Amino acid sequence: MSVLRTLPARPLGRNGPLVPRLGLGLMGLSGQYGYSAPETERLRFLDEAYERGQWFWDTADKYGDSEDIVGKWFIENPEKRKDIFLATKFGIKYTDAAPGYTIDSSPEYCRTCIESSLKRLGLPFVDLYFVHRLDKVTPIEKTMEMMLALKNAGKIKNIGLSECSAESLRRAHAIHPITCVEIEYSLFCTEIESPHRNLLETARELGVAIVAYSPLANGILAGSIYKIAETPGDKRKVLPWLQEGNLEKNVAIIDQIAEIARAKNATLPQLALAWLLAQGDDIFPIPGSSKIDRLESNLESLSVSLSREEEAHMRQLAQGVAGDRFQNLTGYSFGDTPALEE
Ligand SMILES: NC(=O)c1ccc[n+]([C@@H]2O[C@H](COP(=O)([O-])OP(=O)(O)OC[C@H]3O[C@@H](n4cnc5c(N)ncnc54)[C@H](OP(=O)(O)O)[C@@H]3O)[C@@H](O)[C@H]2O)c1
Repeated sequence: MSVLRTLPARPLGRNGPLVPRLGLGLMGLSGQYGYSAPETERLRFLDEAYERGQWFWDTADKYGDSEDIVGKWFIENPEKRKDIFLATKFGIKYTDAAPGYTIDSSPEYCRTCIESSLKRLGLPFVDLYFVHRLDKVTPIEKTMEMMLALKNAGKIKNIGLSECSAESLRRAHAIHPITCVEIEYSLFCTEIESPHRNLLETARELGVAIVAYSPLANGILAGSIYKIAETPGDKRKVLPWLQEGNLEKNVAIIDQIAEIARAKNATLPQLALAWLLAQGDDIFPIPGSSKIDRLESNLESLSVSLSREEEAHMRQLAQGVAGDRFQNLTGYSFGDTPALEE
């Protein structure tokens, strides 16, 4: 069997395509958290991901030069394109004015963006296309009509939503089945489970998978909490989890989770990923990394099993997490859109 098919895989959504339980987030590789390595090193990182059987890659048009790098890798490795399940996204638009971006999920912008993404990637289609964020003016049915047109034209194979509300998911799904929702989900951020959001339950009812972004809480659950807080220029400094009054409480929680990890002969990030994998085989975490040694280490989380008691203990510890999720401060989390006027 090819090394590519050795990772445990599950259908992404009801009747969806088969993908590995653990995907690879490519945002950090293009410097979204600061330093980005020279191009040759980053291409080597993608080689190494491929060699380790990591074939579910998540990028976006807004992740710096990420699509360009992936496109270069495909130019160097044309025979490997068929092996990769590639997701990209549109909907966040850079601007000069603060906060540096606007949200646009209009059909027109969607059409423009897919053409630009395919050009950068050097591909005729992507396997999964996400609406990255929903704006507050375009009824989701309008966005979906364009997504469906792109699918019918063969430019995208599957449709996903990111940071949508349960209601938006339901409305979109009524136009065409949604394969998955990409949303923040980690021990530090379990809001999709809350009855108030009702997103996980709705996704399960509709047979829509969850792609869990920031599964290591932006690196905090990988042991970087003090490093982020102390590194000048690290964009993650704004995270409420790191603010005075919250930081100390969260460090105490992480220390206790790290202790459980040690007792199980696992690392903190491995245990954090294993906890997420234990939430159901419809959950697909996509840890981000820019370091080759972490690829291997994160994949080993697939072999870490948790007893019911350990899972519950970790959940109970994490209930004490201090500080809101950052996305809730942006005004575009769990996005809703206006009703469609006939
Ligand atoms: N749809 C959306 O709106 C959205 C939003 C955010 C993210 N995402 C996607 O989700 C992916 C992951 O999210 P994320 O990057 O925000 O956060 P994350 O995966 O929770 O954490 C990434 C951080 O953890 C570090 N890390 C990873 N594995 C490690 C290990 N084994 N040991 C020590 N440190 C480790 C990485 O550092 P190094 O780089 O130094 O390894 C990086 O700083 C992104 O790449 C992106 O594809 C989507």
